[in-house]
Amino acid sequence: MGTQRVGIIGSGLMGSGIAQVAAYAGSDVVLVDVEESRVDAGIAGIRRRLEREVQRGRVTEEDAAAAAGRLTASADWESLQSLANVDVVIEAVVEDLGVKTAVFQKLGRVCAPDTLLASNTSSLPLSDLAAASGRPEHVIGLHFFNPPWALKLVEIVTTASTAPETLDDALKLCDQWGRVAVQVKDTPGFIANRLLVPFIFDAIRLLDNGVASAEDIDSACKVGLNHTMGPLATADLIGLDTLQFIAASMFEEYGEPRFKSPTLLRRLVALGHLGRKTGRGFFRYE
Ligand code: NAI
Repeated sequence: MGTQRVGIIGSGLMGSGIAQVAAYAGSDVVLVDVEESRVDAGIAGIRRRLEREVQRGRVTEEDAAAAAGRLTASADWESLQSLANVDVVIEAVVEDLGVKTAVFQKLGRVCAPDTLLASNTSSLPLSDLAAASGRPEHVIGLHFFNPPWALKLVEIVTTASTAPETLDDALKLCDQWGRVAVQVKDTPGFIANRLLVPFIFDAIRLLDNGVASAEDIDSACKVGLNHTMGPLATADLIGLDTLQFIAASMFEEYGEPRFKSPTLLRRLVALGHLGRKTGRGFFRYE
């Protein structure tokens, strides 16, 4: 399958980033969100990032213009009619089972019968979304990493109902888009977040207990453990609200205290300090 037409639902951090990867790799992309202003913001972000890549000499002006030209905005959230003729849909809306389930119900009604239906969920049960679509054999998880244009990993998540052809199509898509795929069963947190979330939470607890400063906790991991980013800066990058959502479904499923959101995280989210996207989380940003 050479995927030409892709629909992406949710134009936030991840949706817009995945759209950028897809358009740059040559696919035509329809980007959908609840309001026109949100899709426009997503597309403006993609254009900005492409321009920056041109300035850094990593992308030619022609390739950036061609990628931008392959993006179409849509706010038909209610009907999702703009996705009736795409080859692949990737859902990247807020990490909320109710919102995602409603999206998959609609996709099952609207999309052509052989459309590959993917979710970018980090932790929610893909099997629930597959069942909601009414065509679980075509549903798969494509868990991209943040930021998608820089991190090449995609966790491909299968349920007990995913058809072998669907997995095959997903592997081909990753290859076409220059991604590195790993395969994992439908379990909360898959591979990477199952390891990462308790690690970040321990860092937050160190900070909350006054053991060390945020700067020193991150420095210890960067300089001593050779991590590219410290755990608190990583939390800010993920988005503290998203991290809390991800952890909530892992805690619900596994029932282990290591997946329970630390108090400090919950307080920061309550105050709207969500990390980079709001300019303040564990650190402050311009
Ligand atoms: P975001 O908050 O940046 O974007 C979420 C999008 O969902 C927004 O554009 C919003 O308009 C839309 N949306 C639709 N219905 C909504 C509703 N009822 N309430 C609120 N927003 C609604 O979130 P982000 O980070 O792009 O996450 C999207 C998905 O990607 C989630 O499933 C998340 O778990 C997953 N993910 C996030 C990563 C991260 O580092 N942030 C990494 C990998 C996956």
